[in-house]
Amino acid sequence: MKVTVGVSGGIAAYKAAELVRALQQQALDVHVVMTAAAQQFVTPLTFASLTGHRVITGLWNADGETPNANSAIEHIAEAQDTKALIIAPATADILARLACGLAGDFLTTMALATPSPLLLAPAMNVQMWSHPATQANLATLRERGARIIAPESGYLACGMIGDGRLAPIEDIVRETMQVLHRRNDFADETVLVTAGGTREPLDPVRYLGNRSSGKMGYALAQAVQERGARVILISAPTHLQPPHGCEFVPVITAQEMRRAVLERLPGATLVIKAAAVSDFRPKTCAEQKIKRDTPLTLELEPTDDILGEVVRQRRPGTLVVGFAAETEQPLEHARGKLHRKGADAIVLNDVARPEIGFDSDRNAVTFLTGTTAIDLPEMPKRALADRILDETLALRRTRQIVAELENVPDHMLR
Ligand code: CTP
Repeated sequence: MKVTVGVSGGIAAYKAAELVRALQQQALDVHVVMTAAAQQFVTPLTFASLTGHRVITGLWNADGETPNANSAIEHIAEAQDTKALIIAPATADILARLACGLAGDFLTTMALATPSPLLLAPAMNVQMWSHPATQANLATLRERGARIIAPESGYLACGMIGDGRLAPIEDIVRETMQVLHRRNDFADETVLVTAGGTREPLDPVRYLGNRSSGKMGYALAQAVQERGARVILISAPTHLQPPHGCEFVPVITAQEMRRAVLERLPGATLVIKAAAVSDFRPKTCAEQKIKRDTPLTLELEPTDDILGEVVRQRRPGTLVVGFAAETEQPLEHARGKLHRKGADAIVLNDVARPEIGFDSDRNAVTFLTGTTAIDLPEMPKRALADRILDETLALRRTRQIVAELENVPDHMLR
């Protein structure tokens, strides 16, 4: 299977050679396209030697002037038969050009012309990475369906420490393989996903909330939509952009989330409850802002357990996956939740681990069912979303087989 690695001009360009080798180890036929700036860091000869293919370095002939009749359409041919375009490293400049739809060189032209998935592994200086222009370009590209493989934090070539280092090669390979194997395996499903942290108002300006960013829930919504499902995303407030094309239902409180979920439950074939729902709410919400000199004791009352109600009210066959964010004895607590709430599976999140804690772009979880506990190691949340979906599908298949066996007459089993 043919894939194309696009190399743009940053110091991490040398790591693209390692990426090419790692992709070849997955039995992929790797072709390379380089921007002019990339050629200042690494020579095309490096990639030609590794791949055994001519490296495409520009839209025009080497003399830079005479257009070649073949090269004029090469980007279309190249774009049509590659199965994925992976740009690594993707500089701030190429992200900006892609976000604007510019097509001034071979790589950007090909990115516009290809119907295949686009994966972007950015690498740059920490300030360039966090600049609002770069972040806005990333948001645009993400919304259009590009898969962003977020850079990691560490020492950068510029001497600074922070986000901006090219993601580990194995992450880029894993995401590429997932994209290539992406099937339409959720095509017949309507999936209800809850995300974000609910807010319970105390007065017109204050609320009881939690530290959930919503990233895991949004990643799941996007992943399952890409795998063919119709998605309803019911979300408490976050700073995230809902995936394009899903039915988006914004809510604020646990009570609003409960209503929105139960209303839409009859049409759902799978419910994923990634939201961090407040367990308590203030018994009363003050009409005016509570003043500093008011003697204050907060009286709280419990909220309804939405997950428990979903399990009780679901149609037969609707699968329910809950989440458990735990800080101590994670397995015991998550198992208790699985049984108490009656969910088909619980995704256990150990939030005591700082490297994968709240608001992180990476996570590691355990997918717990009544009979299994599958550890899904640390990886980007978008990749993890696909792994959680794979396990969910495997669980559905197991349930179907068990149900079919239960219908087989005894004499046929003997
Ligand atoms: N949940 C829910 N409704 C609530 C509280 C939680 O639907 N009122 C769901 C969450 O969306 C999650 C799962 O239940 O999928 C577990 O949430 P968690 O807060 O970990 O569990 P609790 O039952 O609240 O238990 P505890 O806070 O005691 O750990």
